[in-house]
Amino acid sequence: MEPRSLNFDAVLSIDNIYKQYGAQIVYENASLFIGPGDRIGLVGANGTGKTTLFRMITGEETPDSGKIRFDPHVSSGMLSQESQCSLGITVREEMQSAFPEADEAQNKIENLAAKLEFAGGHEAKEALRQLSQAQIDLEMQGTDTMEQRIGRVLHGLGFPTDALDRLTDTFSGGWQMRIAMAKLLLREPDVLLLDEPTNHLDARAVKWLQGYIAEYPGAVFVISHEPKFLDEICYTIVELEGGKLSEYTGNFSQYQH
Ligand SMILES: Nc1ncnc2c1ncn2[C@@H]1O[C@H](COP(=O)(O)OP(=O)(O)OP(=O)(O)O)[C@@H](O)[C@H]1O
Ligand SMILES: [Mg+2]
Repeated sequence: MEPRSLNFDAVLSIDNIYKQYGAQIVYENASLFIGPGDRIGLVGANGTGKTTLFRMITGEETPDSGKIRFDPHVSSGMLSQESQCSLGITVREEMQSAFPEADEAQNKIENLAAKLEFAGGHEAKEALRQLSQAQIDLEMQGTDTMEQRIGRVLHGLGFPTDALDRLTDTFSGGWQMRIAMAKLLLREPDVLLLDEPTNHLDARAVKWLQGYIAEYPGAVFVISHEPKFLDEICYTIVELEGGKLSEYTGNFSQYQH
């Protein structure tokens, strides 16, 4: 086992945390550093506290003592074992909500266009000027690339081409989890946290996800019980046992030997 140097450039550091639920000590003096391009697999027996660590990173839980430090510009996003997508909207709307700035510009354009219908004279001229500016703003955010990225991710996860215009409600629970995963991948958080991502995926979508993670611009931290998946994506394995995090350089097969 090779602990990494403590002074490398961490985007996230978990510093000596302690966490207890009732009489159960889940973490005790646990520390971990995550660098910008890391691909880390988190392994450990059922009920040892893997999900709890992710929840402490996202702030849904807090350690009893110790610190979880983020670089102030770093974002994190998590796919949990029971992730949900929004209901009552189309898949397209759910995907567009992964791009809040573009969504806002689009709303602005719609409001200005509506205003223009009833405006006259100077007011119309001003609305027209604002409308053309809002369209420029939207183009600057690359809506074409946004559409392409949405299409690429949905296709990769196995959605049919007509999925975009369907209500999210019309999909089964497993597919709604894929919708949640697609949205998270499109948001591209700096630290991507995936809790058992392969659970609701078929072999083809798993393969696509492996390729996507390989190219992912941020750090990826994955909880998985799938040796093959971990072998494909990770070059660091972190094992949780007895409240401690131990780090091993290499993929899952190398960790086992
Ligand atoms: N909010 C909570 N209140 C009390 N106990 C909790 C809470 N959340 C988790 N626990 C307990 O803490 C332990 C760790 O739970 P956690 O879900 O983090 O484990 P895990 O490693 O993700 O397990 P699995 O492999 O089954 O997903 C478990 O014993 C669980 O019952
Ligand atoms: Mg769990």
